[in-house]
Amino acid sequence: MIKPLRKAVLPVAGLGTRFLPATKAMAKEMLPVVDKPLIQYAVEEARAAGIEQFCMVTGRGKTALVEHFDIAYELEVTLKERGKHDVLRSLQSTQLPPGAIAAVRQQEPMGLGHAIWCARAFIGDDPFVILLPDDLVLSDVPCTKQLADAYYETGGCVVAVTEVPREHTNRYGILDVAYDDGKLVEVAGLVEKPKPEVAPSNLSIIGRYVLMPQVLDFLSRMERGAGNEVQLTDAMAKLIGLVPFHGLRYEGRRFDCGDKVGFLEAQLAFALKRPDLAPAVRQFLRHYVSEAAETVA
Ligand code: UTP
Repeated sequence: MIKPLRKAVLPVAGLGTRFLPATKAMAKEMLPVVDKPLIQYAVEEARAAGIEQFCMVTGRGKTALVEHFDIAYELEVTLKERGKHDVLRSLQSTQLPPGAIAAVRQQEPMGLGHAIWCARAFIGDDPFVILLPDDLVLSDVPCTKQLADAYYETGGCVVAVTEVPREHTNRYGILDVAYDDGKLVEVAGLVEKPKPEVAPSNLSIIGRYVLMPQVLDFLSRMERGAGNEVQLTDAMAKLIGLVPFHGLRYEGRRFDCGDKVGFLEAQLAFALKRPDLAPAVRQFLRHYVSEAAETVA
């Protein structure tokens, strides 16, 4: 029997060094794209896939991430008094049912694999989703919903994958492909950050996963991998052969918001999807494009 997917783990304990000084006292996942923090996009995406329970793996200085999903009583009363009902509505998706969100601490950022292991009591014996909030996906069907649908078909692990330039394989977890039907890829192996000359493919894992709880058995061994961190990819690789394991070429556009250029691009892409902002954004973009063309000429 295929168990329903109800749980999501949101690892948010990283240092966010690429965004310093912005992330000195504030979590990277609180950075807004247009007017919503990255963490809220992740929670909304997961809820659209039927996820009901959330566990954030947090660290020092990250309490705002959990508070974002609390009732802001005074703010809400004031907005009501002032008749700002549209603004009030924009807060609705930050309100989860009581008990739906939990937080565990990863005292030291020892790697993504270690962060997931910190959520072991929450995961228990259930399949679960992982969303890395700094990966933002713009799509018609939410990316996690696409993964969940593939999970209900295959009954095992499913990771979202995309093609990357071969010279960038050393930045990502890369798939060794057993069979590829153009959408669903049967996985023969996984390698974390391989050099381009030894990479088994250029299919990279992005920050969306459906995993089986057995991954915790391998994470608990605390084996260090690339960068001397406990790597999730290494533990996932050990599941291949034990449970069905697929990569899904998701429909949509992914933005790496942990990177400055990716973050800026996401701002534009998401603003251009907003009817209230798109005309003004298009107008200033025209200006900057012609300025850039003059600089090149
Ligand atoms: P990143 O590789 O983006 O690292 O982590 P980072 O620390 O957030 O950012 P930089 O590279 O220093 O700028 C990917 C995801 O894994 C989480 C991060 O919070 C992010 O969501 N993570 C990473 C943890 O929760 N714990 C860790 O030990 C490492």
